[in-house]
Amino acid sequence: MPAYFLAPSIIASDFTRLGDEIAACESAGADWIHVDVMDGHFVPTITVGPLFVQACRRATRLPLDAHLMVDNPDAHLEEFAAAGADRLTVHVETCPNLPQTLEKIKSLGCAAGVTLNPATPVSALEAALPLADLVLVMSVNPGYSGQTFMPEMIAKVQEVRRRLDALGSKAFLQVDGGITPQTLPLMYAAGANVFVAGNGIFKHPQGAAEGIRLLRECAPS
Ligand code: DX5
Ligand code: ZN
Repeated sequence: MPAYFLAPSIIASDFTRLGDEIAACESAGADWIHVDVMDGHFVPTITVGPLFVQACRRATRLPLDAHLMVDNPDAHLEEFAAAGADRLTVHVETCPNLPQTLEKIKSLGCAAGVTLNPATPVSALEAALPLADLVLVMSVNPGYSGQTFMPEMIAKVQEVRRRLDALGSKAFLQVDGGITPQTLPLMYAAGANVFVAGNGIFKHPQGAAEGIRLLRECAPS
């Protein structure tokens, strides 16, 4: 098992070549494919929905990691599970009853992830932590690929790591936003073990495979 996992953020890829982009990630050793679902309401942008997850499903056997940046995600969980997502991550800001939402995700056969905006304190996750299969710390404000990493989030990852360890939880600790060969080692040292990257992979001048190789080699594994 690698010391850490890489999850290319597929919304930064060229959608006219979706199957090829996913295949390139797979052969370069990507571990998961991260799908950023945005509704134009919880976040300003609109990206993709369950039909896109279905298309990714047909293109790969890698785990599909859907990051739901949508209001009222409870209403859409079945659809994303049926589309073939393996992991569903919801924002604490969108879930009035977070433990219930995580239970629902598990009952659909998916791994249950929870995330929080940079401005939301870790305490907002407290009740849900024992149930979470994954905790995602956003290192940018959600909404767009290509933003600058927020170094204040290093301490937040350390705090989540402490809380997960105190619970004896083996949940993945994922980070998302501005991850590069420079920022990945900082978050790895803070305790993260799954790294989402959009621009760092798909906008790499030498191609996605080189982007993945550099992210793979920048921290001990
Ligand atoms: C931001 C998304 C990210 C984004 C990452 O709202 O959740 O997954 O696509 O892109 P980069 O790595 O370019 O910051
Ligand atoms: Zn994301």
